[in-house]
Amino acid sequence: MSPSPEAVCVPRHVAIIMDGNGRWATQRGLPRSAGHRQGVEALRRTVRAASAMGISVLTLYSFSTENWSRPQAEVRFLIELLRRFIRTDVADLHKSNVRIMIIGDRDGLEASLRAMFEEAEALTRGNTGLRLVIAFSYGSRQEITRAVQALAHKVAEGKIAPADITPAVIANHLDTAGLPDPDLLIRTGGEQRISNFLLWQCAYTEFVYLPEYWPEFDQASLVRAIEAFRARDRRYGGLKAQTG
Ligand code: FPP
Repeated sequence: MSPSPEAVCVPRHVAIIMDGNGRWATQRGLPRSAGHRQGVEALRRTVRAASAMGISVLTLYSFSTENWSRPQAEVRFLIELLRRFIRTDVADLHKSNVRIMIIGDRDGLEASLRAMFEEAEALTRGNTGLRLVIAFSYGSRQEITRAVQALAHKVAEGKIAPADITPAVIANHLDTAGLPDPDLLIRTGGEQRISNFLLWQCAYTEFVYLPEYWPEFDQASLVRAIEAFRARDRRYGGLKAQTG
């Protein structure tokens, strides 16, 4: 049985911006695709480590709305990697009690890819272990825009009043509805920005930036990031609890 997050003091929800695949490959004189391929290995290691550590939710930024502007060959390669990952890994993830969820804009995706997402989600829906959230064709501003549009429709149809729109209602209209907000956001590759990832959800998230490229990420990197997280003093805008 997995230890509870409380028992080992791990954050409940860890989100990761998996950056640096291209630079990792270029440094080695390899094509960028080799970096993405190694990135999938790092992803597998991270899912195993997160499961073993008792993390409840792991959200991985696998393809952003902005990534569509990359050369067509790279876009096609990244989509193919995701297809292959779902095809080869979902059965094992299901056996490991992992629940899979895909967030992002599915409009405009090939029907066969959408069907794969739906099948993976349906197969693992009843699982109670790690929730693996894959952000694909995901952009936070677009996600918030979709939520606002859905709420505007409800107001226009008279189903809700403008005053009914609270932060909780907005959160329930995001792709991440029902998930706790991330406690810890890790970005690899040395850049220190959020790149349109979980903007609403990260209001009180602790950010840890690691210098290593994503293909190098492993359990020790995850532990390092969690140790940095545990050293933080989370006050949520309030004051530190007084003792004595
Ligand atoms: C950032 O590195 C990484 C990506 C844009 C894609 C992340 C994809 C994977 C880790 C593999 C595929 C995922 C799944 C779910 C199977 P970059 O290309 O921006 O690197 P760079 O900043 O060094 O150029």
